[in-house]
Amino acid sequence: MENAFTILFLTILLLPHYVMAQTNINTDQLALLSFKSQISSDPFHFLNESWSPAISVCRWVGVICGSHHQRVKSLKLSNLALTGRIPRDFGNLTFLVSLDLGNNHFHGNLPQEMAHLRRLKFLDLSLNSFRGEIPSWFGFLHQLQVVNLRSNSFTGSIPPSLSNASRLEILEISTNLLEGNILEEIGNLHNLKSLSIEQNQLTGSIPFTIFNISRIEVISFSYNSLSGDLPNGLCNDLPILKELYLSGNKLDGRMPTSLSNCSRLQILSLSGNNFDGPIHNEIVRLSNLQKLYLGYNHFTGIIPEEIGNLVNLVDLSVENNQLTGSIPNSIFNISSLQSLLLWGNNLSGCLPGEIGNLTKMQFLNLKENRFTGEIPKDIRNLVELEEFDVGFNSFSGSLPMEIFNISRLRTIQLSDSNLNQH
Ligand SMILES: *[C@@H]1O[C@H](CO)[C@@H](O)[C@H](O)[C@H]1NC(C)=O
Ligand SMILES: *[C@@H]1O[C@H](CO)[C@@H](O)[C@H](O)[C@H]1NC(C)=O
Ligand SMILES: *[C@@H]1O[C@H](CO)[C@@H](O)[C@H](O)[C@H]1NC(C)=O
Ligand SMILES: *[C@@H]1O[C@H](CO)[C@@H](O)[C@H](O)[C@H]1NC(C)=O
Ligand SMILES: *[C@@H]1O[C@H](CO)[C@@H](O)[C@H](O)[C@H]1NC(C)=O
Ligand SMILES: *[C@@H]1O[C@H](CO)[C@@H](O)[C@H](O)[C@H]1NC(C)=O
Repeated sequence: MENAFTILFLTILLLPHYVMAQTNINTDQLALLSFKSQISSDPFHFLNESWSPAISVCRWVGVICGSHHQRVKSLKLSNLALTGRIPRDFGNLTFLVSLDLGNNHFHGNLPQEMAHLRRLKFLDLSLNSFRGEIPSWFGFLHQLQVVNLRSNSFTGSIPPSLSNASRLEILEISTNLLEGNILEEIGNLHNLKSLSIEQNQLTGSIPFTIFNISRIEVISFSYNSLSGDLPNGLCNDLPILKELYLSGNKLDGRMPTSLSNCSRLQILSLSGNNFDGPIHNEIVRLSNLQKLYLGYNHFTGIIPEEIGNLVNLVDLSVENNQLTGSIPNSIFNISSLQSLLLWGNNLSGCLPGEIGNLTKMQFLNLKENRFTGEIPKDIRNLVELEEFDVGFNSFSGSLPMEIFNISRLRTIQLSDSNLNQH
């Protein structure tokens, strides 16, 4: 009696496990057929031709099975112009490690059952029309390393549980409709290398915990409504940061001098904020810098004399500020420079012949300043020049005719520059 009871008890206890253990490749096939049934448009007939029960599921287009367990390990259906939804049965693909549905027309919410995909490491749902909140169950997927939800219609705020996906290395949730703050908890993601949340509607300040993620290489918060200032000390714990994008927010205050401690920085974008004060000289220590965007702020003072130390600079944009003084001579030593946007400041002085050293220059915009003197003939050396704008200045003399020999030149803007017109 006791034994019978025990057996009965154990059977009840173990039954669900027994059923779970019965999942096999047929489970995966049924789940994928259910997924296929939710695809309303497959203009190139990818799935129609190969996704048939007559063929082993491991040979279907886009499907890869694990070599040991013969279960669906990877599903890659990116760029196929598919329209459809992810059904609840999708959560039965419990051996899935990699899911790539990027650049299709998938829509609807992500089903709760996807929380069962505990082995998932790589998830790319970018460039679709998924909607709803970013599900909090992402926090249960402890193997996740890459999450790309860019360019969808996700709403709501970033779920705090995301900070439990502690193996995350790449989190890309740009170009959605996310609101609310960037949570302090994001700083718990110690393995993050790249964090992109640009083009959303985030508000509040940037949590300083982010600047404690020692492996981070890319931080991109551009085009939100973030406010507050940047902490001094920023960069003291970010030894390998390479790209920092904060453009198009409502940030204010000074540029922290500690930025110069991000010595590997290649791209620094602070344009389109309310930063004020000087462009401090410390910045010339960022010798790996290739792109420096500081335009559309309220920076005052001069362009640092030693800017020429930035020998790898390709783009330098300081347009639409209140900078004074002349163009530092050291700038003409930066032979890699392709774009120099100085327009909309109070810069003065002459343009020296050394401008001719900048032979890679493509975009040179000096308009709306107080430059004087003649445009040097050496300008003819800028053989790559496409746009040349010196309008609204106080230049004298006439434009050197040689400039018209530059074959790529599309735009010359001289209006109200005081130059004699030919
Ligand atoms: C997925 O799993 C659930 C729960 O085990 C089951 O009820 C459902 O029938 C399965 N779906 C498919 C398509 O096999
Ligand atoms: C898909 O295949 C089924 C049967 O093989 C066929 O009846 C149907 O017309 C096909 N649809 C498209 C869009 O090719
Ligand atoms: C993270 O996981 C822990 C332990 O499982 C749990 O207690 C906590 O609530 C989770 N945090 C979030 C924000 O979900
Ligand atoms: C950064 O990390 C250090 C050491 O782990 C810790 O003492 C400090 O409080 C952290 N700062 C922030 C802002 O989280
Ligand atoms: C750079 O970091 C070091 C070490 O954290 C710190 O002592 C120094 O003051 C920082 N430099 C600047 C300019 O903030
Ligand atoms: C330009 O570079 C040369 C060679 O490195 C150096 O001697 C010169 O001082 C630099 N000029 C300026 C204005 O920095």
